[in-house]
Amino acid sequence: MDLIEAINSRKSIRAYKPDPVPKAVIEDILKTASRAPSGINYQPWEFVVVTGDVLERLKAASLARLNAGETPTWEIGGNSYRGPLPETYRERAIALSARMYGLLGITRENRQARIEWSRQGFRFFGAPAAIIITMDKAFGNNNFFDLGLVTQTVALAALHHGLGTCIQGQGVMYPQAVREVTGIPESKYLVISLSIGYPDWTAPVNKLHSDREPLEKTTTWLGFE
Ligand SMILES: Cc1cc2nc3c(=O)[nH]c(=O)nc-3n(C[C@H](O)[C@H](O)[C@H](O)COP(=O)(O)O)c2cc1C
Repeated sequence: MDLIEAINSRKSIRAYKPDPVPKAVIEDILKTASRAPSGINYQPWEFVVVTGDVLERLKAASLARLNAGETPTWEIGGNSYRGPLPETYRERAIALSARMYGLLGITRENRQARIEWSRQGFRFFGAPAAIIITMDKAFGNNNFFDLGLVTQTVALAALHHGLGTCIQGQGVMYPQAVREVTGIPESKYLVISLSIGYPDWTAPVNKLHSDREPLEKTTTWLGFE
């Protein structure tokens, strides 16, 4: 696949076929993604790839905490829900939700269906495998940028194999559950996860192609004619 085509066609996949992804394929993806740049070539990322019985236990552990009413938290990074953001950012998030729930046939009022949909996220949207990306806590608040680069590169490399991904905060939002099941020690930040698998293109949610702002809103050109 052409590079530009890959970048333009990558999108979050939120429904998967059950077909397993061969270990060798994920190995190839992670090898390619590890070519991502990082500050002073630290390569601060570490991958934990989960499938089969371990993945089932991981989903069950997170869902048990969700069902018990425990608030999901992101140890590090995360989305800004707290401070008041300028309206333009809120609008983008609302537009995404509206389009996604529209495709899912879930109305604004149907709180129960929305909660059930959020559970799907904690099930990695039915993907046959998940990748958890961690970083040694010795890095403190630095070098998270590098993990973003490797994460996007995983998502792009996956396309080469006909695979889809969804970068998911949800996968690490019950950190204790993740640590219990995977054995990832406290000395590592649970930074992000990805679900990975063969997309179910019949699922309406996978028809979502999220919007982007025109460059006029995001770019300043200086010194051009
Ligand atoms: C750091 C990060 C965390 C995300 N966490 C979630 C998540 O927990 N659940 C989810 O459904 N999508 C999640 N997403 C996907 C975003 O919603 C998605 O990338 C964005 O809406 C743009 O859509 P696209 O990926 O289809 O281009 C996350 C994306 C990023 C970069």
